[in-house]
Amino acid sequence: MQNRYEIATMDGDGIGPEVCQAAIRILKEACGASLLNFTAHEGGAGLYQRTGEVLPEDSFDACKAADAMLHGAAGLPGVTYPDGTEAGNDLHLQLRFRLDLFANVRPIRLYRGVKSVLADWQPGQIDYVIIRENTEGLYASRGAGVNLRGELVTDTLVMTRKGVERIARFAFDLARQRKGAPRDGRHRVTVCDKANILKTYAYFRAVCDEVALGYPDVEIDHAYVDAITVHMLKRPDFYDVIVAENMFGDIISDLGAGTVGGLGMAPSGELGLDHALFQGSHGSAPDIAGQDVASPIATVLSGAMMLRWLGDRHADTRLSAAAVRVETAVERVLAEGRVVPRDQGGMARCSEVTEEICRQLR
Ligand code: IPM
Ligand code: MN
Repeated sequence: MQNRYEIATMDGDGIGPEVCQAAIRILKEACGASLLNFTAHEGGAGLYQRTGEVLPEDSFDACKAADAMLHGAAGLPGVTYPDGTEAGNDLHLQLRFRLDLFANVRPIRLYRGVKSVLADWQPGQIDYVIIRENTEGLYASRGAGVNLRGELVTDTLVMTRKGVERIARFAFDLARQRKGAPRDGRHRVTVCDKANILKTYAYFRAVCDEVALGYPDVEIDHAYVDAITVHMLKRPDFYDVIVAENMFGDIISDLGAGTVGGLGMAPSGELGLDHALFQGSHGSAPDIAGQDVASPIATVLSGAMMLRWLGDRHADTRLSAAAVRVETAVERVLAEGRVVPRDQGGMARCSEVTEEICRQLR
């Protein structure tokens, strides 16, 4: 337990500044003025355009030294490296790989007041977490692929025993802590892979099955990635925790978000043993930047995840209680439906949603 916690923030690009500042305001409202100390650092595509650096060393050092990181969004279209990949994304990827943020935690939950594109599914029936391995898989090849004379280009999919074991253990530990799948209350981990076709995914499944032996109280389930996209639409209440390789996790987490109101409702926490980055799962949405029309909900809920992670890590009930207050305030705003974010069909501005959440907190 600390007197104060240092939070390194990076607004980033596009709507990043608006949603990050909104979350900071709400976290201060929930925690009081002294418990969290926010320090802003530069990073992202805009900075890269100006300086040639997407994440300056002093920003990285500050992130590494902080108790946690809160980020808006990064990336601007057309701002790319010579190899064609987007420069802004390197902000995330440098932090992920250099700080070993191996577990990308993506809750998929339908809130009261939010309409799902899946007809007839009600709040409480869609409530699972996608655990995306965040440091290897197909992303291990980012910046390291092969391009021969512009004629042959490859990216390799990498799996390590350490990487798979630790993400599987993370998923089973989480399933043990949750209340089980909405459908049947069973504590369940679904291993998402393509083990029928590729050795790497067969290895992923085999290591997950080994880890499962240590969790007789948690049911293990398996789903090929193509099949799970159908199941996530037709029986989302079956899922409790889904564990997946990096690229598959990236894809199915957006699909999952799409079933509970879109990426504006999708928080994320990228956790390592000693560091953690919290941000909405959405992108920088440059087309609506600076208009005060973005929804801050995903970033605010990511901030609540940050409070919960810090509270658990430092055994600080002040933070855990504040996390509950922030989540409850968001739930109330959405359920009351008076101040509705535009991505949920309303007319409320980012600042209005922010103020309403603060009002609920007060
Ligand atoms: C995500 C994003 C990132 C990813 C990009 C922005 C680097 O899509 O966090 O889901 O590909 O992981
Ligand atoms: Mn993604």
